[in-house]
Amino acid sequence: MSKVILLDHPLIKHKITIIRDKNTGSKEFRELVKEISTLMAYEVTRDFPLENIEIETPITKMKSPVISGKKVGLVPILRAGLGMVDGMLDLIPAAKVGHIGVYRDPETLKPVEYYCKLPQDVSERDLILLDPMLATGGSASAAIEILKNSGATNIKLVCLIAAPEGIETVQKAAPDVDIYLAAIDERLNEHAYIVPGLGDAGDRLFGTK
Ligand code: URA
Repeated sequence: MSKVILLDHPLIKHKITIIRDKNTGSKEFRELVKEISTLMAYEVTRDFPLENIEIETPITKMKSPVISGKKVGLVPILRAGLGMVDGMLDLIPAAKVGHIGVYRDPETLKPVEYYCKLPQDVSERDLILLDPMLATGGSASAAIEILKNSGATNIKLVCLIAAPEGIETVQKAAPDVDIYLAAIDERLNEHAYIVPGLGDAGDRLFGTK
């Protein structure tokens, strides 16, 4: 079973409270989603392996650790996942960025892929799948399947707010994918919105509605 890692650092909690507030406008919302993503990147990369290299300080030679040849791919789920990319890139600037678009078919209610562009060497990369809201878990599970069908073997899912239903769905569909979260909320409402949540993350990021 995959791990659920709740990142409840005070800075993250504080910023999540502000983005939940309906009076927070798009500019501030975007800035805060970026900042929270940067803080989450710090934890998501915690298990990256290190190797010692030899360097020379102004005083002496020494061996000192650097990250050991990690290739990372960031994959936002369109469109709200885009809001998390720049914050992650601040800490992982060499990462390549792929994109996955899925929508829910109104009749079957099943997720349908409408866009997918991934780095060529996806099987060699540690992939970080980004979506601010883990609601039903349908889009995230579909995106994970798309990544796996493209050869990915190492995937982490990073979301800001999750409903218990979404966590359960992803854990069942992808027991090898750890889930990093900033908050776990109560439930979904009848429209599959997270309660209390923050509303529609895409609309709030891009000022649409
Ligand atoms: N997507 C959102 O943007 N918000 C929710 O609450 C659920 C899904």
